[in-house]
Amino acid sequence: MSVPARLTADQASALLPQLVTLLQDVVAGGASIGFLRPLPADVALHFWHDVIGEVARGSRLLLVIREGDQVVGSIQLGLCLKPNGLHRAEVQKLLVHTAARRRGLGRVLMSAVEAEARAVGRSLLYLDTEPDQPAEVLYRKLGWTEAGAIPDYACTPDGRLHPTVLFYKKIAP
Ligand SMILES: CC(C)(COP(=O)(O)OP(=O)(O)OC[C@H]1O[C@@H](n2cnc3c(N)ncnc32)[C@H](O)[C@@H]1OP(=O)(O)O)[C@@H](O)C(=O)NCCC(=O)NCCS
Repeated sequence: MSVPARLTADQASALLPQLVTLLQDVVAGGASIGFLRPLPADVALHFWHDVIGEVARGSRLLLVIREGDQVVGSIQLGLCLKPNGLHRAEVQKLLVHTAARRRGLGRVLMSAVEAEARAVGRSLLYLDTEPDQPAEVLYRKLGWTEAGAIPDYACTPDGRLHPTVLFYKKIAP
């Protein structure tokens, strides 16, 4: 089984082409993760540059799974830096390449991000996701609690408005 690795900003920069490919693949596959399709390479590159900047500043963790010279999965943890929110973090952009799905990588990435959250002292995790998609099934299976839904929150890659469901999970410190 492939093991997720937490990347430094320099390591992530060295993987930029693979990260761009992963993001483009997942958006092309129809996932609502902030982009419309087709996703131009320069837009994907800009996104990853922002992510890497936050990794460098210490406000974000980035984990990836590599197979050969490809990045087949990734996940991020946005660390709240507000003085009253240092216990919480947002799980974001769980991505598994369409050719690598249903092999347990999503589950492994979620487990790894929880472990990283614990290691940096975060005890409350939250996320949001499009309902009735594989990710929602996964989060429920992993013990996340639904907090509610917001209608018409975002667009699918094809421009159709959909709700988002908010989930949280308290993890032991
Ligand atoms: C959600 C996603 C990360 C799952 O990745 P994955 O590696 O295929 O997931 P896993 O193989 O670890 O599956 C774990 C469990 O999730 C559920 N699951 C995953 N894909 C599913 C699907 N297509 N339909 C129904 N349940 C699914 C199953 O319960 C599965 O367990 P099982 O295989 O024992 O039945 C992947 O589908 C993906 O990248 N989707 C697009 C991006 C996205 O929506 N990210 C979330 C943004 S909030």
